[in-house]
Amino acid sequence: MTKTIRSMAVLAATVCLAGSMGFAQAGEAVYKANCQSCHGSTGTPSAGIAKMMDVKPASEYKSSEKEQIDAVAKGKNKMKAMSPKLTDAQIKDAVDYFRTLK
Ligand code: HEC
Repeated sequence: MTKTIRSMAVLAATVCLAGSMGFAQAGEAVYKANCQSCHGSTGTPSAGIAKMMDVKPASEYKSSEKEQIDAVAKGKNKMKAMSPKLTDAQIKDAVDYFRTLK
């Protein structure tokens, strides 16, 4: 009985870990393929791109997650609309990843 409970706890922990890793990796992959060219791999664009495209480092965008998802989906100034090229889920994952960058 105790053994069953213990293995169930281990299983639950493993599933949690795999779930959160999957989420982070999905966002990172979408970001690297679709966003990095303008926003840089660390969320800070190179000086040349920053000047040319008018992009700021990730931490300087104070907008909410929803506003950012909207901006990415519909496009904003020099950022082209990512929808429908990317699904809503991909846009959300990429924005969530972007928001973890400083
Ligand atoms: C062609 C270059 C380019 C690409 C590719 C690009 N962006 Fe942007 N992004 C910009 C520019 C330029 C801005 C600044 C827009 C403004 O405020 O004038 C911006 C702004 C943003 C903002 C802040 C919006 C706000 O004002 O709240 C977020 C979040 C963002 N980008 C995320 C992403 C994500 C996620 C991707 C990939 C799915 C992506 N961007 C791809 C150029 C790009």
